[in-house]
Amino acid sequence: MKNIALFASGSGSNAENIIKYFENHPNVRVDSVWSNKSGAFVLQRALNLGVESHYFTRKEFYETDKLMNELQKRKIELIVLAGFLLLVPPKFIEAFHIINIHPALLPSYGGKGMYGSFVHEAVLLNKEKESGITIHLVDKEYDKGANLLQARCPVFPDDSVDTLAARIHELEYQYFPKAIEEYLCPKSK
Ligand code: GRF
Repeated sequence: MKNIALFASGSGSNAENIIKYFENHPNVRVDSVWSNKSGAFVLQRALNLGVESHYFTRKEFYETDKLMNELQKRKIELIVLAGFLLLVPPKFIEAFHIINIHPALLPSYGGKGMYGSFVHEAVLLNKEKESGITIHLVDKEYDKGANLLQARCPVFPDDSVDTLAARIHELEYQYFPKAIEEYLCPKSK
């Protein structure tokens, strides 16, 4: 079994979708969910689905080895960032494979401060005709690692942040679990 740890800071609808996708998977299991926000809804979603969930502090993440050691003890093969808002410190990037999802077509609309509704606002402000998602490996800079997959959707003139976010979420639900599966268990081509 290949163990995944999910990191999320918010609602966690992607985390929930990933947990459900791998529930009865023969080769991949979601070991645990981790959040830097003690009140994040993702922690509750994980518990409802019978997956362990944990809160960690900024200090534990950046200044101690507590979290690293715990993940290594659990033999985590892949950390999946699903709406996780902190910059991952280099020691994690050296120790683990890490995948992130970004709700736009990188390299556009990426970088510091470009997350959640700020991304969709910027896309709408620029009157883009399309947007999408980017699933990529995590490197030492925000949104700069190699792309694993991009998927596109239209942006309509009457879109609001909410309607665009909903369309992007649908793409995320469709592609994110499969991209994780393909990364961990590549099909021979
Ligand atoms: C997603 O749009 C993801 O791309 C971004 O944050 C959002 C998280 O949504 N990084 P949710 O918490 O999974 O509902």
